[in-house]
Amino acid sequence: MDMNKDQSKVDDVPGLEHFQGEHQRLEALLERYQCGLMALDLAEARMGLEGLSYELEVHSAIEEAVLMPLFEQLEESIEGGNPEFFKLEHTKLKKLIATYFVELKSLEQLEELTRPDALLLIERGFTFKHLFDHHTSREDKVFYPAISASLTSNERRQVWGLMDAFEASTRAELGNPPSMGEVDNFI
Ligand SMILES: [Fe+2]
Ligand SMILES: [Fe+2]
Repeated sequence: MDMNKDQSKVDDVPGLEHFQGEHQRLEALLERYQCGLMALDLAEARMGLEGLSYELEVHSAIEEAVLMPLFEQLEESIEGGNPEFFKLEHTKLKKLIATYFVELKSLEQLEELTRPDALLLIERGFTFKHLFDHHTSREDKVFYPAISASLTSNERRQVWGLMDAFEASTRAELGNPPSMGEVDNFI
């Protein structure tokens, strides 16, 4: 996350919705995994899946530790915005990724990889895609706008600072990310 990259700023402090750009980055990593499978290139598929797993861990940790408490403090309850559902969906998304790792490993152990083998995993990846779309569309429409609207410019600055600090500590805790040298080109 680099808020300096954003040119459009509100009161010189970017709105929290700028963090939603991370959703596209996560989608691109899923796409990398699925395109790797499509090309029967399991090294590429693994790179995409490892990147997705790592970045989802970081993204959801920031949302749960920094943003969720702000959302929970909002006075009005918001339709479709039960905080527990957001957390539950993070857990479901991570469990799906764990099953994809098991399935990918079974493909890596095959003596001969066929297109139907790869197709099966591509199809299973759609479960993640659908849940992720459902999850992020509610975050985009409900979660981020409600938090953003409740903060002053100074408070937003503090929240960005907390998000940056939490991101750094989460990445340090998780260790080195998988090598994603070409991720930016892929996006
Ligand atoms: Fe989320
Ligand atoms: Fe999110």
